[in-house]
Amino acid sequence: MGRYDVVLERVAASIRGTADDRAAMEAAVQTLEREVPDYTWVGIYLLDGNELVLGPFVGKPSPHTRIPLGRGICGAAAAEKATIIVDDVNHDPRYLACSIETRSEIVVPILHDGDVLGEIDIDSDRRAAFGARDKAMLEAVAALLAVRIHALGPDAVTQT
Ligand code: SME
Repeated sequence: MGRYDVVLERVAASIRGTADDRAAMEAAVQTLEREVPDYTWVGIYLLDGNELVLGPFVGKPSPHTRIPLGRGICGAAAAEKATIIVDDVNHDPRYLACSIETRSEIVVPILHDGDVLGEIDIDSDRRAAFGARDKAMLEAVAALLAVRIHALGPDAVTQT
């Protein structure tokens, strides 16, 4: 079993082990941040109309608690319904800064029947910290979360 299989199994177990759907999102971000040293900031945004609203996260508070679709790397990934990896955020004009230390970012849409429910957003203080194995593992986590977020329905989004 590779390192990423172990991380996926631990995240899946933390989601499975939490009956409450909102707490399952919390458990997933906490487990990801704890298991992967390069994951400095881990959060989930939930789609509310045309905006992404920040849900559970681990790391420094972000100024971007609401992001319109199409803005930032988060908004781009939701609009494209595809994972985006940015090796150096300082060279991506879409980037909305959260922390001065952040160097790279991955945003993974959470899709249910082709609809965007939200996304997993992870920042790293290391340049080019994210690759194909992160993408595959996080897309599997997103699929697990999609079931739980869909179960919450419109209540998934709590205003901040
Ligand atoms: N960097 C993101 C904004 C969210 S913060 O990283 C938490 C973006 O460009 O969309």
